[in-house]
This record gives sequence, structure tokens and C-alpha cells, in this order.
Amino acid sequence: MKPEWWHKSVVYQIYPRSFQDSNGDGIGDLQGIISRLDYIQELGVDIIWLCPVYASPNDDNGYDISDYYSINPEYGTMKDMDQLIFEASQRGIGIMMDIVANHTSDEHPWFIEASRDIKSPYRNYYVWRDGKGEQPPSELRSIFGGSAWEYSSETNQYFLHMFSKKQPDLNWHYPPVRRAMYEVMKFWINKGIKGFRFDVIDLIGKEIDSNIIANGPLLHKYLQEMNKKVLQGQEVVTVGETGGADLSQALLYTDPDQKELSMIFSFEHIALDEEPGKQKWDLKPLDLNDLKRVLSHWQNGLEAKGWNSLFWSNHDQPRIISRWGNDSVYRYESATMLGTLLHLMRGTPFIYQGEEIGMTNVHFTDLSFYRDIETYQMYRERLQKGYTEEQIFASIHAKGRDNARTPMQWNSSPMAGFTEGTPWISLNPNYVDINAKNDRLSSQSIFRYYQKLIFLRKNMNLIVYGDYNLLETEPELFAYKRIWENDCVSVFCNFTDKIIDCDLTKTLLTGEILLKNYETSPLIGKLRPYEAIVFKSNINN
Ligand code: NOJ
Repeated sequence: MKPEWWHKSVVYQIYPRSFQDSNGDGIGDLQGIISRLDYIQELGVDIIWLCPVYASPNDDNGYDISDYYSINPEYGTMKDMDQLIFEASQRGIGIMMDIVANHTSDEHPWFIEASRDIKSPYRNYYVWRDGKGEQPPSELRSIFGGSAWEYSSETNQYFLHMFSKKQPDLNWHYPPVRRAMYEVMKFWINKGIKGFRFDVIDLIGKEIDSNIIANGPLLHKYLQEMNKKVLQGQEVVTVGETGGADLSQALLYTDPDQKELSMIFSFEHIALDEEPGKQKWDLKPLDLNDLKRVLSHWQNGLEAKGWNSLFWSNHDQPRIISRWGNDSVYRYESATMLGTLLHLMRGTPFIYQGEEIGMTNVHFTDLSFYRDIETYQMYRERLQKGYTEEQIFASIHAKGRDNARTPMQWNSSPMAGFTEGTPWISLNPNYVDINAKNDRLSSQSIFRYYQKLIFLRKNMNLIVYGDYNLLETEPELFAYKRIWENDCVSVFCNFTDKIIDCDLTKTLLTGEILLKNYETSPLIGKLRPYEAIVFKSNINN
């Protein structure tokens, strides 16, 4: 495999609205991020994925863009953005911009023009259809719920929106749309950014009349065109958000010979606690065997060609320790165990802000505390369908996107050091205990453990490129080996809050311990609750 600079990279994801406010308006901003760059540098990452900071009416917190060439004034100015790119690069950190190419805001000038007149030169930028009598053109549902069609009285047609009705879908089959997006990307490359994360990129090839939404027949052709027109020869890393992609599709996206993207976000592992075929809100307990199977399938499947992204959390997912760890008694152990499991795999790890200090889900009990459009849409729909408040709140507490969007917890001062004003969304009340300052002062610092994980990746080719093999073990245990040349690293992770047997570690105890999340010596043949232990050995011994 041809080495690429980003094979060794670790990405830190920032949700700007909730990271750091600098001017007391309760909303995170670019100057706030700049003021925290030293913290991010100390962690050891080399890329920041910045969720959208462009001009936006904020129906979906910036994923509804009204101008790709300007900065949302709530976040600052283009001068601030230039400063961020510069100051980050001074610390060896590149900025990855979030490109929302599947849809714009309905307040984007293209859409305003397009909706005025059927003959507008911008009409074809979007997807319009006649209704069926009084009904929408089809039964298609938006991903946020409700019909995917919205009636526009100005021209008596419906437009398509796969997300909120303020996020009309662009028509990628129309060449001027593709050219316009390529110009946007070139503009940001010229500013010195180092990567792109492409929002719901698997939807751009949709064939609406054939009911094909994801993975349309021309999707890969468009990505190849984009690569040729914009990315080729540039030092930028790309990651595509591809909801339902399976391994064969991942290979199409990420095989370097295909000349499309560096990697994709696959969601197969993260959907394992959902009832198959139902909505994300319909929960089932995680079966560890499924997780082993799925992660190993991806590790092995992208070994010869392609590349994995590695993530547990992002701004759309609940906090991982509340989801698959233990966010009370074993918060440190489970946060570090989950970190170990993921970071020692092959691929590029993504850390979501707050994960490095073990932030947890939030349990607001009153709907008015929530801000997320998807949560509200689900609440209305399910209430109508007869679900009880209790059932609905159970889903929100487990899966609502605001779990990850409460402000970053920096310290225990009022407002957690996030703002001097009133935050746009309430803090998680546990910030008094769980915050970056306390974490650093503690002998059990998750941040310091993540630093070690990142350091290992930066310093060991084995972790970047080594082969991956799942180990056959006791069912409550996730264990794997990485092998590179003569070296071998064995990773053991207890996924339970109990002491479990682990025969395999017995033989390894004479070897070198590379990393562990319990201070005291390991128990022979046993793993303690959420214990993670990593051995290094030579395969010839
Ligand atoms: C995926 C983004 O991650 C999510 O936050 C957003 O709501 C949708 N795409 C629509 O842009």
C-alpha cells in the first residue's frame, strides 16, 4: 500500500457551536477555537474536522448553508477563519472543512432564484416535480421524518428535501451544480485547508423517479470527476459520510485506483444496537459478537486496498461511554477501554470533542431543553402514533443528537468555562465533576490516556499498517492482534463491569505491556471491569 500522510493522522472533530464561546453570546465561535488550539495540539492530533461554519439560517445547525463562501457571523468573520487556518498550521494541525454538497439552505440565493420561476437559470439546480393531484409526487419520506416533498406555491410544483424542508436537495445530474461545488472546494483549498468531510455524499447520485436515493448509478462517476477536477495533486484528505455503505461500496470509494475519496464513514458498527429495518430510535442491546464480527469484517476487508475511518462518536451520535461503556462507576475504565479498542485498529481515528475527557449523554426531562430538529420531528411523530412520553424520552436519552451537542466542559466554573453568557443549549449538569480541568488533575486522566494512544500511532508503523486478526476468546471479551514484520501487538478489552476469565493473557504476561488502563498489575488469567491491556511481543519468541 502506498503510504499517505493521513494514514498516520488522528482527527479531532469540533462542533463549533458547542466548543468555546469567546464573546459571551452563548454560542461557540472561531476565536474560541483559536484560544483552545494549544489544548488540541497537546492531545497530539493533526487534523481538526470543523463542522459547518458557513453562513446559515441554522435550521439544522449549519448543515443548511446559505453561502459557502462566507462565515456565519455568530462564529466570526473570514478573517477569523484565516487566522484559525494559520494558527492551526503553526501547530502542525490542518483544518478539514465540512462540505454539504447534497443540499443547500432554502435561503441560498440559488434556491430563492429557482423557486421564483420555472424558467430561472437556477431551476435545475434543485429537484422539482408536479404533485399527484393534491398529493406530493411520491410517498418518499425525509430522513428526518415526514414527506420528502414540499409544495412551493410560487410555481405550483414540489421540491425534494431528504432532510428538513429548509434543506432542498441539489440536482447533481445538472453539470452547473457540480461545477459550482467544485469551485467552492477550490476556494477552500486555496485558503490552505487540508481536508474535506463530505456530508451524506452517498445521496448525490440519487435517481428520484426510480426511487434510488443512496448509491445511485452515477455516484462514483461524479466522485471521480470531482477528484479529477479538484482533488488530484492536492495534499488534502477526504472522508465521505456514507450512511448505508457496505464493504464492497467502501472499496469503490476508497481504493486508490478508483481515485475517489481517502476514506468513508461506515455506520455498520454503530447501528448494532438498533432494531434492524426500524428507526434509529428503536433500540436493542448490543451483542458484542456482532461488534466483533462487523469491526473485523471492515478491518480485514480494507486490508489490501482502501482505508478505514475509526470512530465511536460524532455530533449525530450519543456519547460512546453512555452507549456501550459505563458512564458512572467505571467511567475512566470504560472510556479508556473503548479508546484502546478503536485506536489500535487500522485506519484513521476520529475523536469527537469531549470524548477525550469522558463526557456523557445528557438527560433533560423537559423537551424545551432540546434544540435538535430531528428530536422534535420524532417527538411529534411518535406522540401522534401513540407512543408514551416515557417511551419517547427513553429514545431521546439514548439516541438524541443533543447528547453530543451540549457545551464542552472545560472546568467547574459557572457555565463550565464554555461561555460567560447563557449557552445556546444547557450544559450537562455533571460538568461540575466531569470537565477538562478535573480530568487533567486526576490520576485517572482520560485525556492523558488518549495522548498515549495517539503517541503510539505516531511512533509505530505496526499500529498504522499492521495486519489485523481477531482472537478467539471468551464472549465478553474483544481481543485482537496486529502484526507487522516481526512484531506483534495483542489487545484485550473487557466489555463488562465484571471480572472475567481471559486465558490468553496468561501466556503473554511475560512479555512487554505496551499500555493498560489499571494502575495495578494485571491479574493472572483474568480481566477486571472494562480493563484494557495491550502486550507487545516478537513473533519469533
Ligand atoms: C449528516 C450530518 O452529520 C447531520 O448533522 C445533518 O443533519 C445531515 N447530514 C444533513 O445535512
